[in-house]
Amino acid sequence: MDKKRIKAIITVNAHMAANMFDMRLSAPFIAETAVAGQFVTVYLNDGARLLPRPFGVCGADRRTGEIRIVYGVVGEGTRVLSRMREDDEIFVMGPIGVGFPTEGRERHIIIGGGAGIPPLLFLCQRLAKANAGNIDVFLGYRTVLTDGHRNGAFLANDFSEIGVVPKIATDDGSLGFKGDAPSLFVKEIEPASLRNARVYACGPNGMLKAVARLARKFDLDCFISVEERMACGLGACVGCVVKVKDKGEWTYKKVCSNGPVFSAEEVFFDE
Ligand SMILES: Cc1cc2nc3c(=O)[nH]c(=O)nc-3n(C[C@H](O)[C@H](O)[C@H](O)COP(=O)(O)OP(=O)(O)OC[C@H]3O[C@@H](n4cnc5c(N)ncnc54)[C@H](O)[C@@H]3O)c2cc1C
Ligand code: FES
Repeated sequence: MDKKRIKAIITVNAHMAANMFDMRLSAPFIAETAVAGQFVTVYLNDGARLLPRPFGVCGADRRTGEIRIVYGVVGEGTRVLSRMREDDEIFVMGPIGVGFPTEGRERHIIIGGGAGIPPLLFLCQRLAKANAGNIDVFLGYRTVLTDGHRNGAFLANDFSEIGVVPKIATDDGSLGFKGDAPSLFVKEIEPASLRNARVYACGPNGMLKAVARLARKFDLDCFISVEERMACGLGACVGCVVKVKDKGEWTYKKVCSNGPVFSAEEVFFDE
């Protein structure tokens, strides 16, 4: 893995829905080498915020040398990012971390929630391109309403464009199933159809915990992308550890360098 910071040019930074932004960066090395589930860290050109912010790779086009990240504005760092313009230069590092396994299965179940959805689009693109088999996608959102106005569910159309129409859940029932994405999966899926399936999930911790529990119940191969607050993003500060079981013993692993993708069996969730 190359851990050099590189200077990238912002080619798009567009408001896409509610507080979500769609950013494209010219970063040929990352576009060439990224695998689905890996992330980049973005430096903010801001003396008060020196630590980079991590974002999953949402798309990578080897032909144009562009990568895509889709991010929610949740704090000052992402607010600074949202104010950057086309042609601005920005430092990024990546691709970082361990991605999703994509081989060895013919049935793929993708379950995403909120800001965890972007890296799953990249995964879905790569699986579809490789003709990896049958893909089902379940996406959960808090709501598709902003100030009483109806937005689309962000990135849902991008899945449809690659031929995989996602099933949608919203917490408030403003679109699709009322509830979360794991509950929608249970409602829609015929257990007998799950033979030889692998589940991939990314989203809030509560959702990952529910997915891990379902994987155990249905005896499914399952990989989850874990989100922890990060500092260095380089494996150096131990700021991003998650409790995991390794060779039968509980231990801690770093999300930035040992993850962010882990087997669901490994990860400890509070009961
Ligand atoms: C591997 C990885 C991939 C990620 N991919 C994406 C992505 O594709 N799109 C996206 O929108 N976000 C993603 N995130 C989360 C994103 O990094 C944070 O939202 C961002 O760093 C917040 O920066 P900030 O300065 O705006 O907020 P801060 O001021 O640092 O924090 C604002 C609020 O966000 C919460 N927060 C900050 N970082 C995280 C985190 N890592 N996980 C959960 N809550 C957090 C804080 O607790 C606080 O409540 C990812 C995080 C990780 C670890
Ligand atoms: S963020 Fe520093 S070790 Fe992971």
